[in-house]
Amino acid sequence: MRKIIIPPIKCQGIKSKLADWILEFVELQKGERWIEPFMGSGVVGFTLQPEKALFCDINPHLINFYNSIKKGEITSKIAREFLEKEGSLLKEKSESHYYFIRERFNETKNSLDFLFLNRACFNGVIRFNRKGFFNVPFGHKPERFAKAYVTKICNQIEKVEKATQTFDWQFVCQDFRQSILQSNQNDWIYCDPPYFGRHTDYFNCWTETEELDLFDLLAKTKSKFILSTWHSNQYRNNSEIEKYLANFEIVTKEHFYHVGATELNRNTMIEALVINFPKLKPQSAKVLYQSQLFI
Ligand SMILES: C[S@@+](CC[C@H](N)C(=O)[O-])C[C@H]1O[C@@H](n2cnc3c(N)ncnc32)[C@H](O)[C@@H]1O
Repeated sequence: MRKIIIPPIKCQGIKSKLADWILEFVELQKGERWIEPFMGSGVVGFTLQPEKALFCDINPHLINFYNSIKKGEITSKIAREFLEKEGSLLKEKSESHYYFIRERFNETKNSLDFLFLNRACFNGVIRFNRKGFFNVPFGHKPERFAKAYVTKICNQIEKVEKATQTFDWQFVCQDFRQSILQSNQNDWIYCDPPYFGRHTDYFNCWTETEELDLFDLLAKTKSKFILSTWHSNQYRNNSEIEKYLANFEIVTKEHFYHVGATELNRNTMIEALVINFPKLKPQSAKVLYQSQLFI
């Protein structure tokens, strides 16, 4: 079992529980590049630790945060000082301080404020309203930034800090179409788009157009790709798989989602990986993935 590198910023749909399974299908050769057009938290690529990577997202706050780490503007030491200071104000003033930071972030877009909000907000979700303002309410934990929690976050920052100094990792704010078009036969693309039909917001506007553009680009790419999507839940099957992805290999795994208010978020879900290269030899696959269904 691979050690999962938990990132400092959380997001909905974070693949920490599935990263090990996803990475069983990846064997990066020397010189090959890892591309994540929808990096979100970045947990899959961070855990893989590729020598060369392009991490992209349409959300500039995620990308700015990681570029600040890369440039040394945010270090674990700087983050510790910041979280200790703002954390003690949160303890003293509770939600009024959370909303003060939220307002400040919406004006200045400061990356440390983004980190604070991400770790103090309700359920650790990232959500922006139609005007592009962060609008997640307070998570109601005034003592959130206790010493041990701050240390945990700073250790997570330190791991990314070290990786950005060791490896050639680029963080770019761009639409997935650009990221995929930049790829070539020496790349592995891991796509984890917003699931069609789920909650949308300012940075997660996922319509049939985006879905079809993604399938079209993946069908044409010369890179190896892995696409995460949902296969089925107790209510229905993902009809997009049969309609557009039937020509690729599909492996599935049962996964339980704890977060969320909607039917798709709350139940056991069969997760799917759609891949355009031969998966592990069936015999080893059988041993390794006996808990999964192969379709
Ligand atoms: C399901 S999350 C990715 C989760 C990630 N794999 C993880 O484990 O944390 C989807 C991400 O896609 C991004 N996104 C949405 N629309 C996009 C677009 N058109 N181009 C690039 N990224 C987009 C969102 O900002 C979000 O971070």
